[in-house]
Amino acid sequence: MAHKDVVNVGMIGCGFMGKTHSFGYRNVNPIWDPPVKAVMKCITGSRSRETCQAAAQSYGWQDYEADWQDMLQRDDIDLVDIGTPNFLHHEQALAAVEAGKDILCEKPLAMTLAEARQMTQAAEEAGVKAMCGFTYRQAPAVRLARQIIEAGEVGEVYHWRAVYLQDWIIDPEFPLVWRLDADTCGSGSLGDLAAHLIDMALLLVGDIAEVSAVLETFVKERPLVAAGGGTGLVDKRAAGQKGQVKVDDAALCCCRFANGAVGTFEATRFAQGHKNGHRWEINGSKGSLAWSLEDMNYLEFYKAGEGNRQGFRKILATEGDTPGWEAWWPAGHIIGYGELFINEIYEMLCAIAEDRQPAPSFRDGLKCQAVLDAFTQSARSKQWVPVPPC
Ligand SMILES: NC(=O)c1ccc[n+]([C@@H]2O[C@H](COP(=O)([O-])OP(=O)(O)OC[C@H]3O[C@@H](n4cnc5c(N)ncnc54)[C@H](O)[C@@H]3O)[C@@H](O)[C@H]2O)c1
Repeated sequence: MAHKDVVNVGMIGCGFMGKTHSFGYRNVNPIWDPPVKAVMKCITGSRSRETCQAAAQSYGWQDYEADWQDMLQRDDIDLVDIGTPNFLHHEQALAAVEAGKDILCEKPLAMTLAEARQMTQAAEEAGVKAMCGFTYRQAPAVRLARQIIEAGEVGEVYHWRAVYLQDWIIDPEFPLVWRLDADTCGSGSLGDLAAHLIDMALLLVGDIAEVSAVLETFVKERPLVAAGGGTGLVDKRAAGQKGQVKVDDAALCCCRFANGAVGTFEATRFAQGHKNGHRWEINGSKGSLAWSLEDMNYLEFYKAGEGNRQGFRKILATEGDTPGWEAWWPAGHIIGYGELFINEIYEMLCAIAEDRQPAPSFRDGLKCQAVLDAFTQSARSKQWVPVPPC
C-alpha cells in the first residue's frame, strides 16, 4: 500500500526483466511526474547474493536481499515486482498478497489456469493492486489503435491476425534453459510469446469464445545445463547429458471472438531471421489497423470510403494528445522498447494513487491464461475448446 507520496518498490529478479523494470523505476518519476513517486528500495531474486548486490549497484537500488522472502517481510516495501521464471510467480505473488503488498507480476501470470485463478482471487480479496506485465499494451501506437476502435472507426471487426516470430532456439545445441523446461516455464512459445498476442487481442477485439490450436516441438532433446550455470539456466541437471523438451517450439492457433470476429495467432522461436517480430492486424467493416513492435512508433490505419485516395496511412503516434505519449518528447522524437516499461510503471503508480486496479490487471492475466489453457487443451484433443469466462 502507498505511504503518502511514495511507493517503496521491492524487485524480485535480476535478469532481463530485473533490468528493464529497474530502467522503468529509475525514469518514471522524471518523465511522468506520477502522483506517487517510485522509490527503488530493494532488489532480490537471484540465487546468488553477489548477483543481487551487483544488480542493486548497477541498476540503482538502495539495498538488496539475498532471499526474496526476507524482502517480503520488510515494512519498508509497498510494491513487489515479480520478474522471475514463470514457476515462481504463483508462490511469490501469494506471499506478496499475504504480506499486504501491491504487485506487478510478469507475464504469463502463472503456469496453469488454476494458479492464475488463485492469484487473482487472492489479490482482489485482499484489495491489493495487482498488475500483469503485458508491456506492449503501453505503446502509444497501440493505445491510439484502441482509441480508433472505440471511436467506431474500424466498424465491425471481422479479422484478428497476429504473429510473434523469433529465431533464437533453432540451434539444437542451444541448452535446456528455464524457458524450455516445462517445470519452470509451463509452456514454450505459448506462454512466452502468444501470451502477448492474446492480451492484445483481448484488449483490442474483445473476449475469446472458443479456440483451436496446433503445437509443435521441433527439437525434442537439448543439452542440460550444469549446476551454477548462471542467470536463467536450470541448475538441477548434470552437464554433458540431454534432457527432453516437453514444451512447444511453435504454436498455430485460431479463435472465434464473442463478438463474431475470427482470429489467428502464430508464435514461434523457429522463424529464421525474425528477432522480435510481434505484429498484428485488424480488419473491420470500415477500416483496418496494423502494428509491428519492431516499428513500434507507427500505427497503420486504412479507412474505407476515401475513393481514389484510399490506402494505408502510416501514423507516427507521437503527437502530444496520443494516449501514452503525453509526457514524452516533442512529436517525432521517437521512443523504444525500454520506454514501454516506464509507461507500464506509470500506470501502476497511478492505479495505486487512484485506488483502482491497474490495466492490465491480474484479471487480465487470468483471462489470457484461460486462452493459453484452452490452446493447450485443443492441441491435445485436436478439438475446438471453449474458453471459460473469467
Ligand atoms: N513483459 C515482457 O515483455 C517480458 C519480456 C521477457 C520476459 N518476461 C517475463 O519475465 C519473467 C522473467 O523473465 P526474464 O527474461 O527476466 O528471465 P531471466 O532468466 O533473464 O531472469 C530471471 C531471474 O530470476 C532468477 N531466478 C530465481 N530462481 C531461478 C531459477 N530457479 N531458475 C532461473 N532463474 C531463477 C534469476 O537469477 C534471474 O534473476 C518471465 O516470467 C518472462 O515470461 C516478460
